[in-house]
Amino acid sequence: MSSDVRVDLNEAVMTVTLDRPSKKNAITAEMYAAMANAIEKAQADTGVNAVFLRGEGGNFTSGNDIGLFVSSDQSEHKTSPALPFLTAILALKKPLVACVRGHAVGIGATVLLHCDYVVASDDARLRFPFVDLGLCPEFASTLLLQNIVGRSKATEWLLLGTPIAAAEALRAGLVNSVMSADLAEEEALSIAKRLAAKPQGALRATRELIRGDVSESPSARIVRESAVFDALRRSDEAQVIFKRFLDRSAETVAQRS
Ligand code: COA
Repeated sequence: MSSDVRVDLNEAVMTVTLDRPSKKNAITAEMYAAMANAIEKAQADTGVNAVFLRGEGGNFTSGNDIGLFVSSDQSEHKTSPALPFLTAILALKKPLVACVRGHAVGIGATVLLHCDYVVASDDARLRFPFVDLGLCPEFASTLLLQNIVGRSKATEWLLLGTPIAAAEALRAGLVNSVMSADLAEEEALSIAKRLAAKPQGALRATRELIRGDVSESPSARIVRESAVFDALRRSDEAQVIFKRFLDRSAETVAQRS
Protein backbone atom coordinates (compact mmCIF):
# COMPACT_ATOMS: atom_id res chain seq x y z
CA MET A 1 0.00 0.00 0.00
CA SER A 2 1.22 3.53 -0.83
CA SER A 3 2.38 5.52 2.18
CA ASP A 4 0.71 8.55 0.54
CA VAL A 5 -2.75 7.08 1.15
CA ARG A 6 -4.03 6.47 4.68
CA VAL A 7 -6.98 4.23 5.48
CA ASP A 8 -8.83 4.25 8.83
CA LEU A 9 -11.98 2.51 10.01
CA ASN A 10 -14.24 4.02 12.64
CA GLU A 11 -17.96 3.50 13.39
CA ALA A 12 -18.44 1.55 10.13
CA VAL A 13 -16.95 4.41 8.08
CA MET A 14 -13.77 3.79 6.12
CA THR A 15 -11.82 7.05 5.74
CA VAL A 16 -9.46 7.18 2.78
CA THR A 17 -7.03 10.11 3.02
CA LEU A 18 -4.82 11.39 0.22
CA ASP A 19 -1.68 12.26 2.13
CA ARG A 20 0.87 13.89 -0.17
CA PRO A 21 0.49 17.54 0.87
CA SER A 22 3.87 18.66 -0.51
CA LYS A 23 2.45 17.99 -4.01
CA LYS A 24 -1.07 19.18 -3.16
CA ASN A 25 -2.04 15.49 -3.00
CA ALA A 26 -1.29 14.88 -6.71
CA ILE A 27 -2.12 11.23 -7.31
CA THR A 28 0.55 8.74 -8.39
CA ALA A 29 -0.02 5.26 -9.85
CA GLU A 30 0.76 3.76 -6.41
CA MET A 31 -1.82 6.02 -4.78
CA TYR A 32 -4.48 5.02 -7.34
CA ALA A 33 -3.70 1.37 -6.65
CA ALA A 34 -3.91 1.91 -2.87
CA MET A 35 -7.23 3.74 -3.18
CA ALA A 36 -8.66 1.07 -5.49
CA ASN A 37 -7.58 -1.57 -3.00
CA ALA A 38 -9.16 0.29 -0.06
CA ILE A 39 -12.47 0.77 -1.87
CA GLU A 40 -12.60 -2.88 -2.96
CA LYS A 41 -12.02 -3.82 0.70
CA ALA A 42 -14.78 -1.42 1.80
CA GLN A 43 -17.18 -3.14 -0.59
CA ALA A 44 -16.22 -6.63 0.61
CA ASP A 45 -16.09 -5.83 4.36
CA THR A 46 -19.48 -6.19 6.08
CA GLY A 47 -18.14 -3.97 8.87
CA VAL A 48 -17.95 -0.99 6.46
CA ASN A 49 -21.16 0.88 5.63
CA ALA A 50 -19.78 4.08 4.09
CA VAL A 51 -16.56 5.51 2.64
CA PHE A 52 -15.25 9.00 3.35
CA LEU A 53 -12.73 10.49 0.92
CA ARG A 54 -10.56 13.46 1.95
CA GLY A 55 -7.20 15.13 1.41
CA GLU A 56 -4.55 16.06 3.96
CA GLY A 57 -3.02 19.53 4.29
CA GLY A 58 -5.87 21.79 3.21
CA ASN A 59 -6.34 20.49 -0.35
CA PHE A 60 -8.42 17.65 -1.75
CA THR A 61 -6.15 16.87 -4.70
CA SER A 62 -4.39 18.58 -7.61
CA GLY A 63 -5.40 15.57 -9.70
CA ASN A 64 -3.35 13.12 -11.66
CA ASP A 65 0.37 13.50 -11.03
CA ILE A 66 1.29 15.23 -14.30
CA GLY A 67 4.33 12.94 -14.50
CA LEU A 68 1.94 10.08 -15.28
CA PHE A 69 0.96 11.76 -18.54
CA VAL A 70 4.55 12.02 -19.76
CA SER A 71 5.52 8.68 -21.13
CA SER A 72 7.92 7.34 -23.69
CA ASP A 73 5.38 4.54 -24.24
CA GLN A 74 3.41 5.78 -27.25
CA SER A 75 1.59 2.47 -27.80
CA GLU A 76 -2.11 2.90 -28.49
CA HIS A 77 -4.81 2.86 -25.81
CA LYS A 78 -2.73 2.38 -22.69
CA THR A 79 -5.26 2.26 -19.86
CA SER A 80 -5.10 4.94 -17.21
CA PRO A 81 -3.75 3.98 -13.75
CA ALA A 82 -6.85 5.77 -12.45
CA LEU A 83 -9.11 3.14 -14.05
CA PRO A 84 -9.00 0.52 -11.22
CA PHE A 85 -9.82 3.31 -8.74
CA LEU A 86 -12.83 4.53 -10.73
CA THR A 87 -13.90 0.94 -11.44
CA ALA A 88 -13.83 0.21 -7.69
CA ILE A 89 -15.94 3.32 -7.07
CA LEU A 90 -18.47 2.27 -9.71
CA ALA A 91 -18.69 -1.19 -8.12
CA LEU A 92 -19.12 0.25 -4.61
CA LYS A 93 -22.68 -0.32 -3.36
CA LYS A 94 -22.14 1.78 -0.23
CA PRO A 95 -22.33 5.58 0.09
CA LEU A 96 -19.27 7.62 -0.80
CA VAL A 97 -18.90 10.99 0.93
CA ALA A 98 -16.17 13.52 0.15
CA CYS A 99 -14.83 16.60 1.86
CA VAL A 100 -13.28 19.09 -0.56
CA ARG A 101 -10.94 21.69 0.84
CA GLY A 102 -8.73 23.88 -1.35
CA HIS A 103 -7.93 22.50 -4.80
CA ALA A 104 -9.93 19.72 -6.45
CA VAL A 105 -8.49 19.48 -9.95
CA GLY A 106 -9.00 16.95 -12.75
CA ILE A 107 -9.79 13.56 -11.25
CA GLY A 108 -10.31 15.45 -7.96
CA ALA A 109 -13.31 17.21 -9.50
CA THR A 110 -14.37 14.22 -11.63
CA VAL A 111 -14.61 11.83 -8.68
CA LEU A 112 -17.11 14.17 -6.99
CA LEU A 113 -19.61 13.36 -9.75
CA HIS A 114 -19.58 9.77 -8.50
CA CYS A 115 -20.02 10.67 -4.82
CA ASP A 116 -23.27 10.50 -2.87
CA TYR A 117 -22.60 13.59 -0.77
CA VAL A 118 -19.97 16.32 -1.00
CA VAL A 119 -19.13 18.91 1.64
CA ALA A 120 -16.91 21.76 0.45
CA SER A 121 -15.01 24.30 2.49
CA ASP A 122 -15.52 27.93 1.51
CA ASP A 123 -11.97 28.03 0.09
CA ALA A 124 -12.61 25.04 -2.23
CA ARG A 125 -11.78 25.53 -5.89
CA LEU A 126 -12.77 22.91 -8.43
CA ARG A 127 -11.43 22.70 -11.95
CA PHE A 128 -11.68 20.44 -15.00
CA PRO A 129 -8.48 21.51 -16.83
CA PHE A 130 -8.47 18.73 -19.43
CA VAL A 131 -8.80 20.82 -22.61
CA ASP A 132 -6.06 23.22 -21.46
CA LEU A 133 -3.80 20.19 -20.97
CA GLY A 134 -4.55 18.96 -24.49
CA LEU A 135 -6.78 16.17 -23.12
CA CYS A 136 -10.50 15.47 -22.80
CA PRO A 137 -12.58 14.85 -19.65
CA GLU A 138 -13.01 11.21 -18.63
CA PHE A 139 -14.86 8.74 -16.44
CA ALA A 140 -18.28 9.73 -17.75
CA SER A 141 -17.88 13.35 -16.68
CA THR A 142 -19.01 14.65 -20.09
CA LEU A 143 -22.32 12.94 -19.29
CA LEU A 144 -22.63 13.19 -15.50
CA LEU A 145 -21.64 16.84 -15.18
CA GLN A 146 -24.36 18.02 -17.57
CA ASN A 147 -26.89 15.75 -15.84
CA ILE A 148 -26.08 17.47 -12.55
CA VAL A 149 -25.51 21.11 -13.50
CA GLY A 150 -27.06 21.42 -16.98
CA ARG A 151 -25.46 21.66 -20.37
CA SER A 152 -24.47 25.33 -20.41
CA LYS A 153 -22.49 25.22 -17.13
CA ALA A 154 -20.98 21.84 -18.02
CA THR A 155 -19.85 23.20 -21.39
CA GLU A 156 -18.37 26.32 -19.78
CA TRP A 157 -16.48 24.36 -17.13
CA LEU A 158 -15.27 21.57 -19.42
CA LEU A 159 -14.29 23.71 -22.44
CA LEU A 160 -12.98 26.83 -20.71
CA GLY A 161 -11.60 25.04 -17.65
CA THR A 162 -12.86 27.91 -15.50
CA PRO A 163 -12.15 27.49 -11.78
CA ILE A 164 -15.37 26.85 -9.86
CA ALA A 165 -15.62 28.54 -6.47
CA ALA A 166 -17.37 26.71 -3.64
CA ALA A 167 -20.41 29.04 -3.69
CA GLU A 168 -20.88 28.48 -7.43
CA ALA A 169 -20.51 24.71 -7.05
CA LEU A 170 -23.21 24.82 -4.38
CA ARG A 171 -25.54 26.94 -6.53
CA ALA A 172 -25.12 24.50 -9.42
CA GLY A 173 -25.76 21.44 -7.24
CA LEU A 174 -22.26 20.04 -7.65
CA VAL A 175 -21.71 19.97 -3.88
CA ASN A 176 -24.25 19.55 -1.08
CA SER A 177 -23.01 22.13 1.40
CA VAL A 178 -20.31 24.73 1.95
CA MET A 179 -18.85 25.79 5.28
CA SER A 180 -15.65 27.00 6.89
CA ALA A 181 -12.65 24.69 6.48
CA ASP A 182 -12.56 23.67 10.16
CA LEU A 183 -16.24 22.61 10.10
CA ALA A 184 -16.27 20.95 6.66
CA GLU A 185 -14.26 17.86 7.67
CA GLU A 186 -16.38 17.32 10.76
CA GLU A 187 -19.63 17.74 8.81
CA ALA A 188 -18.58 15.33 6.03
CA LEU A 189 -17.53 12.67 8.53
CA SER A 190 -20.76 13.12 10.45
CA ILE A 191 -22.79 12.68 7.22
CA ALA A 192 -20.83 9.49 6.47
CA LYS A 193 -21.54 8.21 10.00
CA ARG A 194 -25.26 9.05 9.69
CA LEU A 195 -25.43 7.13 6.41
CA ALA A 196 -23.49 4.23 7.97
CA ALA A 197 -26.01 4.02 10.81
CA LYS A 198 -29.12 3.83 8.54
CA PRO A 199 -30.94 0.56 7.76
CA GLN A 200 -28.47 -0.67 5.16
CA GLY A 201 -30.80 -2.77 2.99
CA ALA A 202 -33.14 0.19 2.47
CA LEU A 203 -30.29 2.66 2.01
CA ARG A 204 -28.49 0.60 -0.62
CA ALA A 205 -31.66 -0.23 -2.54
CA THR A 206 -32.64 3.46 -2.61
CA ARG A 207 -29.15 4.46 -3.69
CA GLU A 208 -29.28 1.92 -6.52
CA LEU A 209 -32.63 3.29 -7.69
CA ILE A 210 -31.29 6.88 -7.63
CA ARG A 211 -28.26 5.82 -9.66
CA GLY A 212 -30.35 3.76 -12.09
CA ASP A 213 -31.20 4.52 -15.68
CA VAL A 214 -32.32 8.18 -15.73
CA SER A 215 -33.95 7.70 -19.12
CA GLU A 216 -36.37 5.08 -17.72
CA SER A 217 -40.04 6.08 -18.09
CA PRO A 218 -41.92 7.01 -14.88
CA SER A 219 -44.26 4.06 -15.38
CA ALA A 220 -41.36 1.57 -15.74
CA ARG A 221 -39.70 3.12 -12.70
CA ILE A 222 -42.89 2.80 -10.64
CA VAL A 223 -43.01 -0.92 -11.43
CA ARG A 224 -39.37 -1.38 -10.43
CA GLU A 225 -39.71 0.68 -7.24
CA SER A 226 -42.79 -1.27 -6.29
CA ALA A 227 -40.92 -4.60 -6.55
CA VAL A 228 -38.02 -3.25 -4.47
CA PHE A 229 -40.44 -1.70 -1.95
CA ASP A 230 -42.24 -4.99 -1.46
CA ALA A 231 -38.99 -6.98 -1.06
CA LEU A 232 -37.78 -4.44 1.52
CA ARG A 233 -41.15 -4.46 3.35
CA ARG A 234 -40.85 -8.21 3.84
CA SER A 235 -37.17 -8.04 4.91
CA ASP A 236 -36.09 -8.77 8.50
CA GLU A 237 -34.56 -5.30 8.62
CA ALA A 238 -37.89 -3.57 7.97
CA GLN A 239 -39.99 -5.97 10.05
CA VAL A 240 -37.81 -5.25 13.11
CA ILE A 241 -38.28 -1.49 12.55
CA PHE A 242 -42.09 -1.81 12.19
CA LYS A 243 -42.32 -4.00 15.28
CA ARG A 244 -40.17 -1.61 17.32
CA PHE A 245 -42.47 1.26 16.33
CA LEU A 246 -45.66 -0.64 17.16
CA ASP A 247 -44.24 -1.87 20.49
CA ARG A 248 -43.29 1.70 21.35
CA SER A 249 -46.82 2.93 20.50
CA ALA A 250 -48.30 0.12 22.59
CA GLU A 251 -46.01 1.07 25.50
CA THR A 252 -47.13 4.72 25.26
CA VAL A 253 -50.80 3.68 25.35
CA ALA A 254 -50.09 1.44 28.35
CA GLN A 255 -48.29 4.27 30.17
CA ARG A 256 -51.20 6.66 29.55
CA SER A 257 -53.85 4.25 30.86
N1 COA B 1 1.22 16.70 -10.60
C1 COA B 1 2.47 16.76 -10.15
N2 COA B 1 2.92 17.70 -9.28
C2 COA B 1 2.03 18.61 -8.87
C3 COA B 1 0.70 18.62 -9.30
C4 COA B 1 0.29 17.60 -10.21
N3 COA B 1 -0.96 17.50 -10.62
N4 COA B 1 0.07 19.67 -8.72
C5 COA B 1 0.95 20.27 -7.94
N5 COA B 1 2.16 19.66 -8.04
C6 COA B 1 3.40 20.01 -7.34
C7 COA B 1 4.04 21.25 -7.93
O1 COA B 1 4.85 20.91 -9.05
C8 COA B 1 4.85 21.72 -6.75
O2 COA B 1 6.00 20.89 -6.63
P1 COA B 1 7.41 21.52 -6.14
O3 COA B 1 7.14 22.09 -4.78
O4 COA B 1 8.34 20.36 -6.17
O5 COA B 1 7.73 22.58 -7.15
C9 COA B 1 3.95 21.39 -5.56
O6 COA B 1 3.09 20.36 -6.01
C10 COA B 1 3.11 22.57 -5.10
O7 COA B 1 2.36 23.03 -6.20
P2 COA B 1 2.26 24.56 -6.61
O8 COA B 1 1.89 24.63 -8.06
O9 COA B 1 3.50 25.28 -6.19
O10 COA B 1 1.05 25.03 -5.69
P3 COA B 1 0.03 26.22 -5.95
O11 COA B 1 -0.71 26.37 -4.67
O12 COA B 1 0.73 27.42 -6.48
O13 COA B 1 -0.96 25.70 -7.09
C11 COA B 1 -2.39 24.10 -8.17
C12 COA B 1 -1.79 24.58 -6.84
C13 COA B 1 -3.17 22.82 -7.87
C14 COA B 1 -3.33 25.17 -8.72
C15 COA B 1 -1.26 23.85 -9.20
O14 COA B 1 -0.25 23.08 -8.58
C16 COA B 1 -1.71 23.12 -10.43
O15 COA B 1 -2.34 23.71 -11.30
N6 COA B 1 -1.38 21.82 -10.52
C17 COA B 1 -1.66 21.03 -11.70
C18 COA B 1 -3.13 20.61 -11.71
C19 COA B 1 -3.44 19.75 -12.91
O16 COA B 1 -3.44 20.19 -14.03
N7 COA B 1 -3.68 18.45 -12.64
C20 COA B 1 -3.93 17.46 -13.66
C21 COA B 1 -5.37 17.22 -13.79
S1 COA B 1 -5.75 16.12 -15.10
